[in-house]
Amino acid sequence: MAVPLFDTKTPLAPLRPELDAKIAEVVDRGTFILGPEVAAFETEFAAYLGARHAAGVANGTDALVLALRALGVGPGDEVVVPSFTFYASAEAIPHTGARPVFCDVDPETCCVTAETVRAALTPRTKAVIAVHLFGNVAPVAAIAALGVPVLEDAAQAAGTTTDGGRPGALGTAATFSFFPSKNLGCFGDGGAITTDDGDVAERCRMLRFHGSYDKATFEHVGYNSRLDELQAAILRVQLPHLDAWADGRRAAGRHYEEAGLGELVSLPVAANGSRPAWHLYVVRSERADELRTVLNDAGIGARAYYRTPAHLQPAMHEWGAGLSLPGTDEAARTNLAIPVSPVFSRAEADEVVAAAGALAAA
Ligand SMILES: Cc1ncc(COP(=O)(O)O)c(C=O)c1O
Repeated sequence: MAVPLFDTKTPLAPLRPELDAKIAEVVDRGTFILGPEVAAFETEFAAYLGARHAAGVANGTDALVLALRALGVGPGDEVVVPSFTFYASAEAIPHTGARPVFCDVDPETCCVTAETVRAALTPRTKAVIAVHLFGNVAPVAAIAALGVPVLEDAAQAAGTTTDGGRPGALGTAATFSFFPSKNLGCFGDGGAITTDDGDVAERCRMLRFHGSYDKATFEHVGYNSRLDELQAAILRVQLPHLDAWADGRRAAGRHYEEAGLGELVSLPVAANGSRPAWHLYVVRSERADELRTVLNDAGIGARAYYRTPAHLQPAMHEWGAGLSLPGTDEAARTNLAIPVSPVFSRAEADEVVAAAGALAAA
């Protein structure tokens, strides 16, 4: 049986009548930008996370740019960011006029640590972007204890829980992407910024509407970056199911463990005190490329992520050339994402493990 890398369709199938009705409701209302659906989603999403405020924006990349600017990041500042992440985490920084300073990750968790962040701090550091990669959790409190504001990039961590609260409510502010394949995804692009700080939230709302607080006077050069009503409505239907879907993602990890995958490859390691809703289930192996070929040949989705990490991308040459980031190199070289979804079954895990076992036996 073929096992896809993602399955976004099956979890949504039972929600189809509710989604259709909600979309019809929005169309009938005729308000498509910054109306009641966005306002309600912002309230519901903030409450779900345990944050005071949420502001819907057009996508997770804009969420980072607007949040950094709302935190006062600008020309002359430095922002620490891991290199082993989706490129957008770093790309957001030069848009503010600040300089990205790349730090390393722990290859076991694929997240930054307080130590890797500390090594990148300078007197010009204005903020740290802590990426909760693959649904795992970066140690936000330990980084904040270094005395810098932490912006969580929680694009991949919706549904994850920790002993100290949910990602999205751990730092000074946080950003989410609702790209369709994310743990909470809409039917196009979407994003949000969350924070407990009312001023930061207000500045994000101002920046998403062309730099205007009252939609009449334009005090700053801002953006046109709103979450639209249809996407907010679609997200509102899905949000009550996010925890059950997250449980399904965690169960997938247990299925792999019980099927014996850990005898063949290194399994992902949940950060201390966290219960990751694995957005991607990423194993590590010195034979990652061979394993991908074997799995793909067996009809099983498998894909390496960020093989060329952000600091080595051509557009980051000015800030990334010549850096030594050994944890990043190891994670980039050895990672392989294998199938995971809210409905991933033990039978599918057995199938993946059997195919992977054939490589070990070869
Ligand atoms: C870690 C991370 N940061 C930022 C983004 C950017 O989000 P978007 O694609 O919605 O702009 C993504 C996802 O695409 C991501 O995975």
